[in-house]
Formats: sequence, structure tokens, C-alpha cells
Amino acid sequence: MSEVVSYKLKGNIGVISVNNPPVNALAQVVREGILNSLRLSQQDGSEAVVLHCEGRTFIAGADITEFGKPPKEPGLPEVLSAIEESTKPVVAAIHGTALGGGFEVALACHYRCAIGSAKVGLPEVKLGLLPGAGGTQRVPRVAGVKAALDMITSGNPVSASKANSMGLIDEILVGDDLLDAAIAYAKGLVESGAPLKRIRDIDLNTEDLEAGFFESARKKLSRRARGQIAQDRIVSCIEAAATLPMDEGLQRERELFQELLTSPESAAMRHIFFAERQAAKINDLPKNTALRPIDKVAIIGGGTMGGGIAMCFANVGIPVVLVEVDADALGRGLGIVRKNYNITVQKGKLPEDQMEQRIGLITGTTNYDDIADVDMVIEAVFESLDLKKQIFGKLDAVCKPGAILATNTSYQDVDIIAESTARPQDVVGMHFFSPANVMKLLEVVRGEKTSDDVLATVMQIGKKIKKVCALSRVCYGFIGNRMLGGYGREAQMLLLDGCTPSQVDAALERFGMAMGPLAMGDLAGLDVGYKARQALTNLPDDPRLYRMGTLLAEMGRYGQKTGSGYYKYDPETRRRMSDPEVEELIEEEASKLGVERRAVSDEEILERCFYPLINEGAKILEEGIAQRASDIDVVYIYGYAFPAAKGGPMHYADAVGVKNVYDKICEFRDSYGEDYWSPAPLLKQLAEEGKSFAQWDKERSDAQ
Ligand code: 3HC
Ligand code: NAI
Repeated sequence: MSEVVSYKLKGNIGVISVNNPPVNALAQVVREGILNSLRLSQQDGSEAVVLHCEGRTFIAGADITEFGKPPKEPGLPEVLSAIEESTKPVVAAIHGTALGGGFEVALACHYRCAIGSAKVGLPEVKLGLLPGAGGTQRVPRVAGVKAALDMITSGNPVSASKANSMGLIDEILVGDDLLDAAIAYAKGLVESGAPLKRIRDIDLNTEDLEAGFFESARKKLSRRARGQIAQDRIVSCIEAAATLPMDEGLQRERELFQELLTSPESAAMRHIFFAERQAAKINDLPKNTALRPIDKVAIIGGGTMGGGIAMCFANVGIPVVLVEVDADALGRGLGIVRKNYNITVQKGKLPEDQMEQRIGLITGTTNYDDIADVDMVIEAVFESLDLKKQIFGKLDAVCKPGAILATNTSYQDVDIIAESTARPQDVVGMHFFSPANVMKLLEVVRGEKTSDDVLATVMQIGKKIKKVCALSRVCYGFIGNRMLGGYGREAQMLLLDGCTPSQVDAALERFGMAMGPLAMGDLAGLDVGYKARQALTNLPDDPRLYRMGTLLAEMGRYGQKTGSGYYKYDPETRRRMSDPEVEELIEEEASKLGVERRAVSDEEILERCFYPLINEGAKILEEGIAQRASDIDVVYIYGYAFPAAKGGPMHYADAVGVKNVYDKICEFRDSYGEDYWSPAPLLKQLAEEGKSFAQWDKERSDAQ
């Protein structure tokens, strides 16, 4: 028997223990081990069997690294059949997170018990998959079709007590020792002569389903799914559960699981799963780098960003001091925090007493002396280098030695800011995204002198406040905003070339972007980009460049806040509508500039907008600004709502073919000039070598 799975008889209870760190994923050795243990249990004196896991969690799913490789026997369905057919009750003892295939193993058991802190769920949809080992057939039989659909299409786990109320967990265990409590529970089942309860034997109740339920579920989900097919296939599986016998339903589930497993969407989402975890790792940092304790934080500036950042810390129980210029500004900042929490409470996502607890952790001051004892400061004042330098000088004077001094700047040079202190080793960038309490990305900006322990601590605190961290070196706009320049530029150029705003946005939204770049400009305010461009001295002297954005801003059409920008907005509903006036204006401008308007295909819109992202991404890699191509993908998925089903811009380049991207960029260079379309040397190199960005990442990681 394999070492990762062991079997022992404890009195009249057989105990199968899985020990496959870190998350007890269902690798081949685990599947084989469980099968062999079950065989032993059928032949010994045991009267019931407990399946439990060592370490931090029950089985957290199939081993994702095995996907896409030739399948190895035994398959998971074989293991589940053996559990279900056991002649003795099999009890799953759950702690941590029983997810995906792990929860499906538990559902094949005759009974499920869990400690109160456990969670269960079927997150496969987040990998572009569906539960492929009976989850779509068993959950509806226990919890009903609607609850199953919700659980499986959202992929969100539920707490043990919720699962208990849904019937998915039979018993919540008390006591310190999970295994002892589970054995006691199993003994109780034996003593009471409890039957072999198999979920497959439950008749699924479909009485409460209105006619056309599955069709309308499909429609609703396709709006939310943004180019993903998994949701649709999950509905088909649950429909099969409601209409077909169990074995036929399982067969259908297997077929659709296999279809998804080979889909580009799932490949992209699995890429992101590992990329996200990789991004938190800093290549040249010693593994055992000591961490600085962070028990209290100060935020300087309680505006749009500062308030949201304060909430991130309060949400995980870390006290925050918000520093503002005067009482009015402070009152406004704290007021916005309360308003944001109130919205969450109203949505039923946070109990009121917890809101008060969190708000209680955020105190305000206008006196810098009050932050002398904090362990970390995050500055989020206006985007002015002089102001930031002045504030860091002040922080240097008041903060205790060892305090981490971070800036949330979007564009300023972290090294220059650091030089305004006598402790540049403690200075780092922590670039949150708006709204900071919602957006998951945290770009951690490593200054020239930032010390290892500051970086390690910021990465760790980032994870603690539930952010996905990616490391950037210092450059204008860091990874994300630097890449964005060409995307916005081309969206505007396409207007002169022949597109309407809605044509550009619609093509990118069909691709999966949450919002097209022009609609996004209207949301952020066209005055913001206008002002930012005025401060830039190195833009090419080209009247076409940002022409429409500039004109609209000069007309006072700032976007949503003035009721018009690229679009006009319904004052009541804020619905965006095409504006013939803008379309006329575009035509006039094109003609003034001598640009001959022509029909532009959706394909060209995607290439013109995304290829500059990829090209800049390649430059960022060769300059060592980002550690890996996959980090860039993480930045775009979590900071810019690039569709997860496309895996980020660099993965998208791999999917299209790096050579195809390079050739197209050369074509654009020949048509539109070197200023905008000069191919990155790394892109050229990979294209010539026939390599992908993923291979580039792998070669570099192997060389380390
Ligand atoms: N397969 C392979 N590796 C996995 C894995 C899995 N299912 N789940 C986690 N890992 C790895 C991670 O890549 C990471 O590796 P690293 O240390 O080398 O970077 C390590 O385990 C630890 O993972 P986390 O950093 O994510 O640890 P956390 O403690 O923060 O989170 C977790 C633990 C909640 C279990 C989280 O890892 C998670 O959500 N895992 C994925 C769960 C999942 O999606 N399961 C479904 C898989 S698909 C399936 O089961 C199909 C079935 O229906 C047939
Ligand atoms: P904001 O204008 O909403 O808020 C800035 C706040 O700083 C104001 O409340 C102001 O009173 C306060 N302030 C000014 N001087 C101060 C001082 N000396 N001491 C204490 N408080 C002071 O600005 P916003 O949008 O929150 O931006 C802050 C920083 O975050 C900027 O550097 C910006 O580039 C960056 N950022 C902004 C994003 C956004 O979408 N708004 C996204 C990511 C980063």
C-alpha cells in the first residue's frame, strides 16, 4: 500500500487516513490507496469505515496538475463506486475544505460528519470545469435542484452548518480531536443499526421546478458567464440528474466533464490558478526570510482609495488609523467607509454587529503623532510627487524604527519617494485597485533599496487581507497601468479609422472584457486621462493621438458624471446609449485629419487593442519589471477584469501563437509607423524560436 494512504483497524472501526500534503489532492497514489484500503476493510473485522485526512484539510479536489496528461488508473469514478458499494457504512470525516473531487468522495460515502469550521464546495467552475465525479448528480438529490445549481455554478463553498442544513452533512462534530469524534460517530451508527445510506437511491424531487426552469437558468447564466461554457454544461448535467436515471446522469456528466477538460477556457483558468499562487513567490528571496509583525496600520488620506484600503485591514481584524488633513476631510472619509459597509449589510452579506465591530477598528486623526506606534503605513494622498515626498519625510520623523512605509501611488517613482526618508529599505509600493475593498489585485512595487523582509511581509499581509499579490519593479505605471497605454490609444485610433464607440466596446465585451475601454473612460472620467496626458512630455507629436478623448473632455463631456462622453447616459438609469453627435464629430475629425474611414472588423479591433498589451508585456519581461509572464496575466485578470476564460494577455498570446502576434505587429508597424508598433525584442526572439511565453517562464524557472 502507498505511504500516502494508510489503513488501520481501531476497535470495530476501520480508519483510512490520507496524507498527501499540502491539500490532500486526489493524485493517482491517493486514489489507489483509498481503493486498496477499502478492499482491506471489506475483509477484516471492521463494522464501519472512517475516511479522514491528515494535515490542514480534507481532500481539496482532484490533482489539477494531472489534468491534460494521460489518465492513470484507477479513475476517480472507480474509487467512488467502491466506496458506495462497501458493505459497511463509510463515513467521511471532514475538516478544512472538502472541495471538488474531495467533496465528491465525501458524497459517495454513506455518512458525512464535519467539524464546525469546515467548508464544503464544488469550485470546478472556477477552473472552467464541472464536478466530474458525481457532484452534479448527488448534490441535487440531497439539496434540491435550485440549491445545487446555485452551489455548482457559483463554485463558492458553504460552511459546515449551512451544508448541514442543506442535508449535505449529517453531523457536526464537537470535541478537539476530529478522528476520535468521527470514530465515536461511526460507532454510534453501528450501534443504532444505521443503514447504508446511498445518495444515488434518493428520488430527486422536481415538483417545485417551474416549466422552462432549465432554459431560463441557461439564459441567466450565459449573461453572467462572459464567454465561459462551463455554466451551460453544468445546467445540462443537473437537468440530466432531474430527468435521467443515476447511471445515465453520471455518464452525461463524464462526457461533459471531458469536453470541458479539453476546452481552451479551462486551460486558461487552470493557468490562472497556478499563476496566482506563483505570483506570490519572489524568486530571489530566501525561503526563511523573517517577517515583521503587522498588528496596527495607518492609512494617510481617506479619499477614494484610503477608505477602501482601511476596510481591507478592518475586515481581517487589524486596527487602522486613518490620517486626514482636517476634521471635515476625516469625517467625509469615515462617512464613506460607513456607507460602503452599510451597502454590504443591506445586501445581506454582513451582519450588522460585525459591521460595527469592523468600523470600531478604524479610528481617525489629523495628527501624525498618533501614528508613532503603527507597524505599517500606507500613503494614499493625491497623486503628486512633491506631496508624497513631503509626507514620507514626515513619516520618517514620526514612525517607529522598522515600520513599513508604503505608497499607493499609481505612477510616481517609488525610489524617489524612498529617498525622502532616511530608511529607503523600509519603503515599498502597495498599489491597490479601485474600489480597493473589492478589487483583488495588489501590485507590490519593489524599490531599488526595499529590503527582503519588507517584501516578504507585504506579500504575506497581502494574502491575509485576501488580495492576490504580484511583484513589480519600479517603472512608469508599474506592470498594469504601463501596459494600458497602448490599449486606450488604439481604442481611440479605431474611431478615426472607421469605428463607432459602441462597435469598439462591443467587440471587446464580446471577447469577455467586463466593459469596453471607451465606456470605461466614461466611467473613470475623460477629464482624468486628459489631465494625466497634459503632464506627459514624451508623447509623439501626432494630432490623431487621443484625439477624440481630448476633444470630448474639452467640450466638458467627461463621461458618466456629466451625463455624456463617448456615449450619452440616461439620467435616471445611467444606461449608456450611442450618441449620433459623437459619431458625427468622429467623422468630421477623421476628415480634417485626412484619415480615410473604412469598415473595421471585430478581429482587427481585438488585435489593435490587445497586441499593444502583449508587446508592452514582453518589454516589461525583458526589462525585469515583472518576474514572469504569468504574473502579468494575474495583474490583468485581477486588476483589469481581463476575462479569466482567456487566461490573461500573455496566455492569450500563447493561445493565438506568439509568431502570429509578432507578424501582425510588424504589419501594423508597416501601416501605422514605429512610434506605436515597434515589436519588443523578446517577442521577436520567441516568435523566431517558435516558443511561447509559458515556455519562457518555464525555462527561467528551471534555470533557478
Ligand atoms: N491540485 C493540485 N495542487 C493543488 C490543488 C489541487 N487541487 N489545490 C491546491 N494545490 C496546491 C497549490 O498550487 C499550492 O501549491 P504551491 O504551494 O506549490 O504554490 C498549494 O497546493 C497550496 O495551495 P494554496 O496556496 O491555494 O493554499 P490555501 O491554503 O490558500 O488554499 C485551498 C487551500 C482552499 C484548498 C486552495 O488551494 C484551493 O482552492 N484549491 C483548489 C480546489 C479546487 O479547485 N478543487 C477542485 C479541483 S477540480 C476537481 O476536483 C474535479 C473533480 O470534480 C473531478
Ligand atoms: P482622493 O483625491 O480621492 O483622496 C486623496 C485624499 O488624500 C483626500 O481625502 C485628501 O484630503 C487626502 N490628503 C491630501 N493631503 C493629505 C495629507 N497631507 N495628509 C493626509 N491626507 C491628505 O485620491 P484617490 O483617488 O484616493 O488616490 C489616492 C492615491 O491612490 C493616488 O496616489 C492615486 O494615484 C492612487 N490610486 C488611485 C486609484 C483610483 O482609481 N482612484 C487606483 C489606484 C491608486
